[in-house]
Amino acid sequence: MAKKRTRTKSASSNGDPQTLQRPPAEILFADELRALAKASAKDPKPPGWKLSPRAVLKFVLGDPSEDRPAKFVGRRAFLERCIVSLATNRGLMLIGEPGTAKSYLSELLTAAISGDSTLTIQGSAGTTEDNIRYSWNYALLVSEGPSENALVPAPLYLGMKHGKLVRFEEITRCALEIQDVLLSVLSDRVMAVAELPEAQRSLYASNGFNVIATANTRDRGVNEMSAALKRRFNFETVHPIADIQEELQLVQRETNRNLSRSQVPVTIDPELTELLVTTFRELRQGKTVDGKGIETPSTVLSTAEAVATGYAAGVHAYYYSDGQVQPLHLVRHLVGSVLKDNPDDLKTVRHYFDHVIKKRKTEPWQAFYDARDELI
Ligand SMILES: Nc1ncnc2c1ncn2[C@@H]1O[C@H](COP(=O)(O)OP(=O)(O)O)[C@@H](O)[C@H]1O
Ligand SMILES: [Mg+2]
Repeated sequence: MAKKRTRTKSASSNGDPQTLQRPPAEILFADELRALAKASAKDPKPPGWKLSPRAVLKFVLGDPSEDRPAKFVGRRAFLERCIVSLATNRGLMLIGEPGTAKSYLSELLTAAISGDSTLTIQGSAGTTEDNIRYSWNYALLVSEGPSENALVPAPLYLGMKHGKLVRFEEITRCALEIQDVLLSVLSDRVMAVAELPEAQRSLYASNGFNVIATANTRDRGVNEMSAALKRRFNFETVHPIADIQEELQLVQRETNRNLSRSQVPVTIDPELTELLVTTFRELRQGKTVDGKGIETPSTVLSTAEAVATGYAAGVHAYYYSDGQVQPLHLVRHLVGSVLKDNPDDLKTVRHYFDHVIKKRKTEPWQAFYDARDELI
């Protein structure tokens, strides 16, 4: 019982953070956000923001002087532009290949700026205006008539009302007319609620409201967006991590964090992380570390996929072996990452094993090669 009383308010309404599969960033990093808010209380900040732009940058990029690693690995100039966009009258559109942490970055930014990353619209072919703006509680609508009480707010309504950032994930997967619901909201910062009595018919956005959208360039593509809507966003492209050392550190850290969160007492060896990341990078870039051209599979072998592969290998090693992650475990789970829909991809990877990995005579590469028969 005593433990219960010490929980934070948001955590208690969502259960114990320790038992949540994936707590949102504002819960996971609650202490850090509180400390940053305190330390930067005197910094200038845009109206409606919880943290100053400087503190937001520190939260996302970490602080080497305090031994806090970057949560998102990216260039500072890019991040500054993203944060500035959110303080203007335009939304922020993050575009890029799948698995480049667009969603994660938008979660971190909304958690830092609004203290809430959960006002999220998930774009899909089935997204409706109701999922974006509001819908009605029909029982109340019938008994009381249209009133704010009978209105069931959706993320855009809540963000405007409470002055928070709203996330629109994979916006280009929605039909054009659904995307265009954002047009008037982003330009005039007002939402018409036509059903309500006249005095309540316009919802004006409070300070702090804005939209972060994400779009995968591999999906239907951003050309599927109206020119009018494009004008209301600043576009920023998120690139895969350029520096191999940075990618190694991130994959190592994220893999081990995932394992420990799922109570698997296994860590992956830095040597194996290097093997995993090198393999993913070579196949992604179509080039080996010594500059030889190779064929690339049609699936994207992103950093996020590398983490997922390392994580699965660790879980596998724990439950079915002695808890020591081996190259064999990586090969087994590589298949699930690479082979999504195109059977030719497996051939491409086999070819890579036979022509590139075979020649690497040191361990753990040899053991990796020896496990190639698992590529089925
Ligand atoms: N630059 C990066 N910084 C931090 N994590 C990254 C980066 N690139 C990839 N990742 C990994 O990808 C995961 C998130 O991917 P996600 O946000 O779902 O990608 P996207 O939305 O672009 O498809 C992160 O949890 C992390 O493991
Ligand atoms: Mg995403």
